[in-house]
Amino acid sequence: MCGIVGILGARPVAGELVEALKRLEYRGYDSAGVATLESGRLIRRRAQGKLRNLEILLSEAPLKGLIGIGHTRWATHGRPNETNAHPHANGSVAVVHNGIIENFRELREGLRARGHNFQTETDSEVVAHLVADEMQTGKGPVAAVAAALPQLRGAFALAFLFDGQDDLLIGARRGSPLAVGWGEGEQQGEMYLGSDALALAPFTSEIAYLEEGDWVVLTRGGAEFHDASGAIVQRARVRSQASAFLVDKGEHRHFMAKEIHEQPEVVGRTLAHYLDMSAGKVRLPFDLPFDANALSRITLTACGTAYYAGLVARYWFERFARISVDIDVASEFRYREAPLPERGLAIVVSQSGETADTLASLRYAKDNGQHCLAVVNVPTSTIARESSVVAPTLAGPEIGVASTKAFTCQLAVLACLAIAFGRARGVLDEKEEARLVGDLIALPGLMAKALLEEPAIEQVAHGLAHARSALYLGRGVSFPLALEGALKLKEISYIHAEGYAAGELKHGPIALIDEDMPVIVIAPKDATIEKTVSNMQEVAARGGRIVLVGDAAAREEAAVALAGAIDMAPMAPDFTPIVYAVPAQLIAYHAAVFMGKDVDQPRNLAKSVTVE
Ligand code: G6P
Repeated sequence: MCGIVGILGARPVAGELVEALKRLEYRGYDSAGVATLESGRLIRRRAQGKLRNLEILLSEAPLKGLIGIGHTRWATHGRPNETNAHPHANGSVAVVHNGIIENFRELREGLRARGHNFQTETDSEVVAHLVADEMQTGKGPVAAVAAALPQLRGAFALAFLFDGQDDLLIGARRGSPLAVGWGEGEQQGEMYLGSDALALAPFTSEIAYLEEGDWVVLTRGGAEFHDASGAIVQRARVRSQASAFLVDKGEHRHFMAKEIHEQPEVVGRTLAHYLDMSAGKVRLPFDLPFDANALSRITLTACGTAYYAGLVARYWFERFARISVDIDVASEFRYREAPLPERGLAIVVSQSGETADTLASLRYAKDNGQHCLAVVNVPTSTIARESSVVAPTLAGPEIGVASTKAFTCQLAVLACLAIAFGRARGVLDEKEEARLVGDLIALPGLMAKALLEEPAIEQVAHGLAHARSALYLGRGVSFPLALEGALKLKEISYIHAEGYAAGELKHGPIALIDEDMPVIVIAPKDATIEKTVSNMQEVAARGGRIVLVGDAAAREEAAVALAGAIDMAPMAPDFTPIVYAVPAQLIAYHAAVFMGKDVDQPRNLAKSVTVE
């Protein structure tokens, strides 16, 4: 979703603002803009579409200001055109905003009545007028922001730049993340604001995160943090690891391809963090502040791909630890008013750690007395900071909007947790643990093997590119992967796709089967294969085009004509989704590339969904 940067520099900053915005592109956006001070006066450049358009504008009409703010906008209120692009400004203040101002209508009415003219359809513009309105009563910029913030309802991160003030930026955070950076080396004395440490990585790795409700006053002399009450507070300066990560595509055409190919390495790294490989045991890298043996139930919530990781994990927690799992998408869970049991554990799963609905369900679980554990990829995120236990995924920054390596790392962590709980509850003995750990250790090698099937997968994907619709089927742990495969395909190729439990085929989707309908069957040879084969025969009998993602034994069992097959190595049955995720991702990737789609930034989607 929207990305924010701010620079208080010693050289013209427009180019650097755009560079920093490029590092936020992964969040998803549809317009962009910057504002600087030219001879002390506020000047903006904004453009619809990609940052390239803003760069062209800036090359035609360069800006020389030494201070500025920049923004990538993911439209919520108002179309993604230049008028609605941030920064929003009136004569005295320019603002960039990430989030939603819920009471903007009522504020706008009041401001209109006091003579303010609105130019855009956005909720964000109201913030610029509100601060300007406070300044008209004689307040300076800092006092005006301090007076305006309590009037705003909703979730936001904000950055302000003021006409005539070439040594002042103000940032504020409520609900959406914001980081402050201190310039280092050649940039000594410069100060920065950014939606995350990644945006600031080229300039600095010395970072402080605003806490919920904080606002911060930046000058070239440093940063003064205030909490929601206005009191001056100290916030810890930490060294960010973001600059250690190369945010480029390497030899790949797209971040998504790079991230798919990184999976053997990052899943291996994540497993190494949770396993004592030589002892054949799970060793959680944190202490559990609860007794896993005494847990009464697990409540799992997440959104999108992270939710599907949770759906797979439900099979593991129930099978390995004999603990029942209630799972829901976070956006619904929060409205169910679900009664939560004593000694219950809430697990939230999130790549970004900032997804608004997932955060809300974490808070609900906390308020209802649950132990809270977060499986997150961004250790400095809000969800990580608000959870009593953080189980990190070590996927590294994920830039492609469609989640890939974060998903398989989430699965790896959840598998380790399920085994650890199984041991603690006496369901698994030492031998069973060692067998499962052995199966986990084999996964990175199996994923590398699956990647070698890419040419065959590409062929299958090209066959899909002409379909209007596709069906993905799976049973047992392969069912959630069918859902994930369908989600990947629709996200980036815009082909309509549905994932179904193979056994549900007869209860509806079979009506859709004809010779134009590709049916991707995810079927490793496991205890359910015979039943899935029956479903394949039902599809074949109706002329459906079957693509089997399975091993040689599954193919032999299937005994139906296949329109395509992706050859998987034989493997132990429990953890197949971690390996079979690779072909599911590559099918979607190659279909989308073949169709000429914007794989890394698919239309309308955002990487980090910080609004509800
Ligand atoms: C968005 C992204 C998905 C992601 C979901 C949940 O929809 O496009 O790839 O799975 O949000 O995000 P989270 O950061 O909480 O895992």
